[in-house]
Amino acid sequence: MRNDTTEQLLNHVFETAVPNNPASIIDAIDAFSRTAPGMIHLGAERGAIFDRIVGASGAKRVLELGTNYGYSALRMACNLGAEATIQTIELDEHLAFAARGLIDYAGLQDRIQVICGRADQVMRRFDEKFDLVFVDHLPENYLCDLQLLESLNLVGEGSLVVTDNVVLFEYQLGRYLHHLRHGGGYASTTKRTSSGSDGLEISTRQNIAA
Ligand SMILES: C[S@@+](CC[C@H](N)C(=O)[O-])C[C@H]1O[C@@H](n2cnc3c(N)ncnc32)[C@H](O)[C@@H]1O
Repeated sequence: MRNDTTEQLLNHVFETAVPNNPASIIDAIDAFSRTAPGMIHLGAERGAIFDRIVGASGAKRVLELGTNYGYSALRMACNLGAEATIQTIELDEHLAFAARGLIDYAGLQDRIQVICGRADQVMRRFDEKFDLVFVDHLPENYLCDLQLLESLNLVGEGSLVVTDNVVLFEYQLGRYLHHLRHGGGYASTTKRTSSGSDGLEISTRQNIAA
């Protein structure tokens, strides 16, 4: 997403959404994205599937790889209890700045922390397992970054890993999906959109010692 589009998005949200009302901010981003093709966030259709998965997880410690401007982080905060905290990593400093602006406007700055940096470098700072990890940064990095999370014990038994764009990028994600579906120690299922053109992979880490 180009910086001028990011600025237009922020202006649209600040002009049309209600402060401290995350749902109205999500609606404003959805409305804006209908007029601005090429935006790469989760979006309303996969977002509705995502909401149900995240809500059912009851996760308290959440990590997201790939913040963009915070759309999916806002959706996660809306669907988890008030005690849940979300740490979300974004490589691009302009996007990280924009995301912080939207998260502050939503009043969720105490629950969502945007960390600017490369996912594989930032995740080495953490020392406690996550209940939920949303993988949505760069398809070519999904496998190495997930395996790094596993080796750092940040993904362990019972952790839920949700991955975006697994139908759209199915070919590119072949080794990653093989890891989740066969042999990586996950119980994994695909939730497709109604058109079938894209989907989310929902993978629960099993007891790998058994
Ligand atoms: C598809 S967008 C994320 C969308 C967001 N999760 C949502 O649905 O609202 C991917 C984002 O990951 C960021 N990114 C790419 N490679 C990254 C990396 N190695 N570490 C952290 N962020 C990265 C990009 O700058 C981009 O903003």
